This record gives sequence, C-alpha cells and structure tokens, in this order.
Amino acid sequence: MNHDSDRPRHVPVLLRRADEILGPALESGGVLVDATLGLGGHAEHFLRTYPAIHLIGLDRDTEALRLAGERLEPFADRITLVHTRYDGLPGALRQAGLPERGSVRAVLMDLGVSSMQLDEAERGFAYSVDAPLDMRMDPTADLTAADVLNTYSHGDLARILKTYGEERFAGRIASEILRRRAQRPFTTSAQLVELLYDAIPAATRRTGGHPAKRTFQALRIEVNRELESLEAAVPAALAALEVGGRIVVMSYQSLEDKVVKQIFAQASASRTPLDLPVELPGMGPEFAILTRGAEKASETEIEENPRAAPVRMRAAERIQAAG
Ligand SMILES: C[S@@+](CC[C@H](N)C(=O)[O-])C[C@H]1O[C@@H](n2cnc3c(N)ncnc32)[C@H](O)[C@@H]1O
Repeated sequence: MNHDSDRPRHVPVLLRRADEILGPALESGGVLVDATLGLGGHAEHFLRTYPAIHLIGLDRDTEALRLAGERLEPFADRITLVHTRYDGLPGALRQAGLPERGSVRAVLMDLGVSSMQLDEAERGFAYSVDAPLDMRMDPTADLTAADVLNTYSHGDLARILKTYGEERFAGRIASEILRRRAQRPFTTSAQLVELLYDAIPAATRRTGGHPAKRTFQALRIEVNRELESLEAAVPAALAALEVGGRIVVMSYQSLEDKVVKQIFAQASASRTPLDLPVELPGMGPEFAILTRGAEKASETEIEENPRAAPVRMRAAERIQAAG
C-alpha cells in the first residue's frame, strides 16, 4: 500500500533542535507563544509533548490561522489563536488576559513565508509561475506588489531593491519599471520576470542566481513591512519572557538574521557602565545567548526538507528580570 498521502507535506524546520532549546522551559507548563503559527507544525509538536502548556498562536495570514485551527482542534482548550502581525504580540497577550511583561515561558518565531503561501501560486510569492503580483501574507491588507511597482517613485523603488534585495542593478531595474508601467501597469509576475531578464546582464546570472530572486524578496519585504515588524516584535517577545524563559528565532534571509543578532547582542550585554571595573548588582545582562553564532540545519535535514537550507537559528534565555 502506498502511504505517501499519509505523510505530512510540510515538515517543521529544526523541530528537534527547537524542542531541545525550548523544552526545558516548558516541562512544568506555562505559556508558549508561537508568533508565526503557519500550518501549526511546530505548535502541534509542543502541545503534544508538553501537556501542561497553553499556546498563544499568532499569524497575519487568516488562511493559515484557519488551517492551523483545524489541525490543533484536539487541543482547542489549550490554545488561543490571534490574527495579528507578530509585533502585535503585547496586544495578543493582553487579549489572553496576560501582562505584556514577564508572563511567557517560551517564544518561537519561524519567520518568512509558509510552504502553503509558496504553494498557492495565485498569492504571487513564487517567480517560477505566472500569477497576480500580490505577495500579501495578510490577504486583508491593502498594499500589493503590483501597487508598489505601479505607484512608487524611482528613488523608492531603487532603495527597496538595493536594501531589501541587495540588488546590484537596482537603479537600472527601477528605471525600466517606470518606463514599462507608463505603457502598461504591472499586473502579473511574468511581466516583472521578463523585465528582470532584460535589465540584468546575462553575464552576471551565473553568479547571482535567478534574476528575479532578489527583486521578489525585496517586494515581499516591502509589501509585508517584514523588517519593521521584526524590529518591533523581537524586543516585545524578549520583554514578555519570564526569568528562565527562552526564545528561538529562525530566519531565512540575512537581513532578518542581522536584526535578530543585533537585538540579542544588546539584550545579552552588561548594563553596568563601561568605566566601572565590576558588574553592579542587578546590572548584569538580562539574557544569555544559547546558540553559538547562527545555527544551521544539518545536511540530512536539508536533504529531506530543502526549505531548511537557508535557515539561521538563534536562541536566548532570560537570566534576569527586566530592570
Ligand atoms: C515559515 S511559516 C511558519 C510555519 C510553522 N512554524 C509550522 O510549523 O507550520 C511562517 C508564518 O509566519 C507568518 N508571518 C510572517 N510574517 C509575519 C508577521 N510579521 N506577523 C505575523 N505572522 C507572520 C506567515 O504568514 C507564515 O504563516
């Protein structure tokens, strides 16, 4: 008999490692915030493994929340699902009747798009299929990728492509976008992919990967305000942790990882003034870093689940109450 259809289609990334890190904080119960619930793969594992926990699951994607809600139905009395961007975490805690600070045992953030978002061609995240230029993770939000392409100034387009896409040809692509949209507004991804093939010199393709990769990443970050949301969410998540509470963040591109790295570095630095020779009582670091650098997935995991290839995981533990 063929059991292929029984196999889970979407395998949670670095699940065992996330469990190793967060598990000790969850053994006696407490609140776990899954700030990127997605299809609930990680969430299901933690609810099953730690029967005393309560899970608060956040996602900005209403469809993800619906599907995760179905999957987590057996744990219905132990979960609170909230439709919000993850920087809405303090509000979600209040909604669940919890203080914004020091009330959470563990936080998991598995950033980026879900396999479902990538698989659903009509949402426009993939450049390999022709689809409407949408890219909204939250289908109820206003701004789409087509809006960005059709309305932003040359300066703003070039800045986004350069900063969020690390695109060398940002200026040239922006000029081409303005020229083409004057003839016909952008509606589909094929129009943009064609432009990128024309604007990016063929000679650079060998080293730079698919010519659409960087521009699609940049548009996705802009449409979803991904970095602003992350810059606000990580400090909010750290503030929410109790002493002994732990956080795991998995990033899939270097800009996100850089944000996490900086915030963790600041949170784990001593608060004693630099010119004092000894640590002042209570002024030591609030957090200890639990990962050395950014951890990657093993070759075996990447072979089984190629989505794990770009992942960079960082983790920290609150060792002192907020000052
Ligand atoms: C990689 S998936 C999570 C997969 C999940 N860990 C699992 O095992 O099924 C990332 C999810 O985070 C959500 N997301 C991305 N950015 C978000 C944000 N700023 N606020 C809330 N959710 C966000 C996406 O909608 C997506 O569903």
